[in-house]
Amino acid sequence: MNVNKFINSKNISSRYLIHQILDGVFINRRTKPQTLNYLEKNQVFFEEKDIAQAERITSFIFGHLESIDRKILKFLKKKTNTSVLNIFRIVVSEIALNEAPNYALVNSAVDLAKISIKTKYFLGLINSVSRKLVAKYQVKELEFNSNLESTLKSYLTKNYSKEIANNIERIYTLNNTVDISIKNLEEIEFWKKKLEAKILPTGSLRIKKDVKLTNLNGFNEGKWWVQDISSSIPIKLLGDLKEKEVLDLFSAPGGKAMQLISLGANVTCLDKSSIRIKMLKENLSRMKMKSEIIKTDFYNFKTKKKFDVVVIDAPCSSTGTIRKNKEIQYLFPEKRLNNLIQIQKDSLNFAKKFVKDNGVILYCNCSLFFSEGEKQIIEFVEKNKDWCFEKISNKNKFLDKDWLDKFGFLRLRPDHLSDLGGMDGFFAAILKKKCSSL
Ligand SMILES: C[S@@+](CC[C@H](N)C(=O)[O-])C[C@H]1O[C@@H](n2cnc3c(N)ncnc32)[C@H](O)[C@@H]1O
Repeated sequence: MNVNKFINSKNISSRYLIHQILDGVFINRRTKPQTLNYLEKNQVFFEEKDIAQAERITSFIFGHLESIDRKILKFLKKKTNTSVLNIFRIVVSEIALNEAPNYALVNSAVDLAKISIKTKYFLGLINSVSRKLVAKYQVKELEFNSNLESTLKSYLTKNYSKEIANNIERIYTLNNTVDISIKNLEEIEFWKKKLEAKILPTGSLRIKKDVKLTNLNGFNEGKWWVQDISSSIPIKLLGDLKEKEVLDLFSAPGGKAMQLISLGANVTCLDKSSIRIKMLKENLSRMKMKSEIIKTDFYNFKTKKKFDVVVIDAPCSSTGTIRKNKEIQYLFPEKRLNNLIQIQKDSLNFAKKFVKDNGVILYCNCSLFFSEGEKQIIEFVEKNKDWCFEKISNKNKFLDKDWLDKFGFLRLRPDHLSDLGGMDGFFAAILKKKCSSL
């Protein structure tokens, strides 16, 4: 079957993409971007509007999975295969989001099923269950709870608290905003008005998500860049960066590098990924910013130069970003930890060789797991007696005391700033060589 031709003729391009994303996560253990890459390699292409619709619907499905599945299971006499179940998940979410008339939902579910060997022998079942679903669940009768995947929820309950786990579960599906950082903070009031934004306590702006960001005022002119508030806070802990030499070890696509440069630092950016280096270069060029860019695996990086600051925004489980990447919870983040923890450890040991005597390492990442944050730092200072961590204090006026943990690390969670829609989870610590001055 020519998939492109079929999905276009049946007007089911976005549903096909949604189904592929769901099969990607629940069967092939692929992230959304990996599924898009996979489809592109197989010459299946989508319009922007299909990708936006797929984003909206899959985000709803991953955020309410338990609730959705409970509704489907009422109509299934026995267990069915995951790909068929994924079609029903699309039908229920489309009823909930009022995406199309009932008959269209049933027809498209059946058409979708014709494409794959995993579903095409179940056309009868898909037709009858889809009919029952649309007949039973009128939009106004439907209630959906925001659900966290059970292993992640248990982790949060055990390691944070039941209340925090519940708060995160409640807030993380209500994410309809995007945060931006302004290049010249003196212009913040101007951009607040121009973009109809809210100013957040740390000086980021929050705008509504339903606009195409690249069309907004100031984007092409390099006046601001997209960066979640929580991801922008670690650099703000470093204080005055004018003329400071900074090594940004995991730099692409450049959110933190742009912040560092806008604060007057001379930045050396390192990253091993060609695709992401390209994004970094595009970002810096749009922002009219300059830095040295080195494409290399940090394990192979050599220099005699010493830096005032080394920034380690290491690869991590990304569990802090579940507001945006809800599928992460279903990709067994805990099972991927061993490899990530090793890279983080190695990068800390590597970074210490490049720091000036009175310099610091800023270690941060967007994980909610303590093993990628607190534990790494505590182990590092235990093994490196000439290093210690600086207690981050809320004398930094923009910091809420609830954002700091008992050690003095920054520990941001998705339920922080919940009145304004939350933020990504993020961890940050500052390591110093000269401990006597503390
Ligand atoms: C969390 S992202 C960095 C985000 C970036 N600091 C920002 O603020 O936009 C992690 C980056 O580490 C890079 N990376 C992963 N392993 C690496 C390695 N061994 N050496 C260099 N870069 C690596 C990835 O390509 C990715 O771009």
